[in-house]
Amino acid sequence: MTQLQNPSPLAALDQANKSLASRPKGGISAPDQVTVTAVTHWTDKLFSFQTDRPPGFRFQSGEFAMIGLVDDEGKAVTRAYSIASPHWDDHLEFYSIIVPDGPLTSRLRHVQIGDKIILRPKTTGTLGLARLRDGQRLYLLATGTGFAPFAALIRDPEIYERFEQVILVHGCRTIAELGYSQKIVADSRAHPLIGEMVTRQLHYVPSVTRENFTQTGRITTLLADGKLASSLSLPPLDPAFDRIMICGSIGLNQDIAAQLLEKNFHEGNLSSPGDYVIERAFVGDGI
Ligand code: FAD
Ligand code: A2P
Repeated sequence: MTQLQNPSPLAALDQANKSLASRPKGGISAPDQVTVTAVTHWTDKLFSFQTDRPPGFRFQSGEFAMIGLVDDEGKAVTRAYSIASPHWDDHLEFYSIIVPDGPLTSRLRHVQIGDKIILRPKTTGTLGLARLRDGQRLYLLATGTGFAPFAALIRDPEIYERFEQVILVHGCRTIAELGYSQKIVADSRAHPLIGEMVTRQLHYVPSVTRENFTQTGRITTLLADGKLASSLSLPPLDPAFDRIMICGSIGLNQDIAAQLLEKNFHEGNLSSPGDYVIERAFVGDGI
């Protein structure tokens, strides 16, 4: 793990202004740019980074924004990214895959402190508390970088006010791929303002599928065989009490939704809050 430290904000601002002055015609306007302030590489395919936060940039925890880089021809290459930091934080954080030939991440993987990235001002998303009915327990089910929106939500005090217990399940292939969620959870438990709530109400269940670990197996299997609930001494999933947010590959999302439909869970939206909501962690090949 490589942790890089924050440079002087004044130096970064000066650099940002110089870079904006030299931007080609039709490039990115100043409000759409932020400066990278920290970078951490977790594995050869996963990294996280922080940026400054423009004063007028507002969002709800769990939402995503379009971020990107300017390519060699001066064209913006942007992609959807969940904001991994909570709405109250003074910086922004993102958690990223590296796709070797990916138009964005093959370059984004090289970002360093002081670099500029594009951040479009509009945010949106389905993983919002307003789309869920009240309940006792909130399950957050993620695979891979699908953990990113939950990194924001588990640090938002509102979820601990709305739900007595929050169960975060993060499924990955290997233990190393759990590094980011393990750190976010540990830091949240130790946080001076939210630490007490998190320690009392959050259950963190990391699970891996291609190595031996304390918990192994796909999330779909842990749900279907009841192991998840029983390992936490919780009753089986029940739409009368349980609410669920899902963020993973299309396959995972579909498989969990099918299980939930069988148990009479209803998908929620803003006009009709329901029992579960789903967001894709990425758009799969050919879809
Ligand atoms: P692309 O051309 O966009 O993707 C190439 C291929 O790589 C895809 O077809 C897919 O098979 C695979 N792929 C892309 N993203 C992922 C991923 N995250 N995990 C596994 N395989 C992937 N990506 C993140 O890394 N972090 C996020 O927080 C994030 N949030 C997203 C939120 C939403 C709502 C959506 C729709 C996507 C999100 N993505 C996220 C995916 C992101 O938009 C890009 O696809 C990703 O950054 C790769 O960009 P690229 O241009 O390098 O490759
Ligand atoms: P598995 O190792 O059995 O494929 P990926 O890195 O491919 O995005 O996968 C992340 C995690 O999600 C892995 O643990 C993987 O398990 C799991 N996974 C992939 N597809 C599904 C699915 N349809 N249902 C449940 N888990 C899945």
